[in-house]
Amino acid sequence: MKKSRIIVDKDYQIADIDERLFGSFVEHLGRAVYSGIYEPDHPTADEQGFRQDVIDLVKELHVPIVRYPGGNFVSGYNWTDGIGPKDKRPVRLDYAWKSIETNQVGINEFSDWCRKAGSQVMAAVNMGTGSEQDAGYMIEYCNFPGGTSWSDLRKQHGYDQPHDIKVWCIGNEMDGDWQTCQLDAESYGRKARQTAKILKWVDPSVELVACGSSTTLQKTYPEWDRIVLEHVYNDVEYLSLHRYYENEGNLNDFLASSTDMSEFIKTITSICDYVKAKNRTKKQLMLSFDEWNVWYQKDQKDHGYEIAPTLIEDQYSMLDALVFGSMMCTLVNHSDRVKMACLAQLVNVIAPIMTQKGGGALRQTTFYPFRDVSNLAKGRALQLLTHCDTFESERYGTAKTLQSAASYDEESGEIVLFVVNVDQTEAHQLNVDLRSFGNVEMISRSILRHDDIYAKNTFEEPFKVVPEELAVAAADGGSSFELAIPAMSWNVMKFRCQG
Ligand code: AHR
Repeated sequence: MKKSRIIVDKDYQIADIDERLFGSFVEHLGRAVYSGIYEPDHPTADEQGFRQDVIDLVKELHVPIVRYPGGNFVSGYNWTDGIGPKDKRPVRLDYAWKSIETNQVGINEFSDWCRKAGSQVMAAVNMGTGSEQDAGYMIEYCNFPGGTSWSDLRKQHGYDQPHDIKVWCIGNEMDGDWQTCQLDAESYGRKARQTAKILKWVDPSVELVACGSSTTLQKTYPEWDRIVLEHVYNDVEYLSLHRYYENEGNLNDFLASSTDMSEFIKTITSICDYVKAKNRTKKQLMLSFDEWNVWYQKDQKDHGYEIAPTLIEDQYSMLDALVFGSMMCTLVNHSDRVKMACLAQLVNVIAPIMTQKGGGALRQTTFYPFRDVSNLAKGRALQLLTHCDTFESERYGTAKTLQSAASYDEESGEIVLFVVNVDQTEAHQLNVDLRSFGNVEMISRSILRHDDIYAKNTFEEPFKVVPEELAVAAADGGSSFELAIPAMSWNVMKFRCQG
């Protein structure tokens, strides 16, 4: 067994972990909304047609904020199509996903769903076919108390109290050629700034997110980010980052994905700080990593216009869950600048939760690392000192075989350590050194692994890959623990200081 060591020190703190780091995303795409969160004929549907079995799983995941309604969808979406009596709502073509949108769910229903699921809405406005004023009317409808045409219309629709949506994304991936009415950086920067002014004039309490590069693979990356920020720096609080990874056949590359994700965050942070210096301002811009996941984009297929077609319903393996877990660790390790993030997406579409129309709901392998970090990473993120060997990846350079993150909650005295062993063959004999905490006891330990790294959970075998609780280890000398960390495994260890 290889020997490795992680030193966890309470004085090496990164930042408070904003719980919105564990957000997710529901887009009008495929079966995310229709037969995902909403299915009026389903046996578990509530009075509004929301699937209770899905709400229960979302609550289990603990998802404090959910981005809506897109995604690429939003750039051709007229939000007024989704309000008012359902039988009067228009059926439209959705250009983004070549689908038919029935508009049976809109911003009012989604706000209700979020409340039921214990989440908040992160709303996105249309910067493709939509105007600055359309965005202004939408926030007026959602957040203005009353006495104006749009706010009174909301009341007329049965919502006397404003939705009070606190986070607004100004468009989606406007640098992408696939986007309805793509813009160049200068045009988007100008439009985003004027939209931001209107949004804040209507509700000064909101926080705004401008579109950063949609991936590091864009030719315009990272110039796009600099140009956009030079327009909007003073008007928004966050710049968005999006990045998906997939196994394209080179396992080392795939297992090093989070190294690249970390470099991406560092680059965008530098660009924010460059514009900060240029603007001679004290204002610090934060990041919203509002789309991230493993996504097998090469498997996408063309299809005709349909209502809620089966689209990008990736099935995740144990291997995918490892890369996914290392991406979650990366977010925690950058929590000084990444304050919000959205796992894209939540239900059916590249999602931890899958549903059958009229049938059950399933936890994919990726459900578990998300559930662990979202429920357990509380308080401050800690900077770990990890001694382990490395491996080389063609695409992203040198990466560590142990990828990790930790949190420390001073109030409860609990320390939680997350470790992914991406060593393809060997277990590690890991020494966890918590010396600065005095006497420490381990209170729980779980592992997610499978002999077959390509094993998946399916409706036929829903519990093929599930976490296992392990016996806790005793401390050696008060605060040092010796643990065997199997190859290709996701590990969660919870400790408590004994005062
Ligand atoms: O999450 C799926 C799609 O990925 C989103 O609609 C888009 O923003 C991104 O390209």
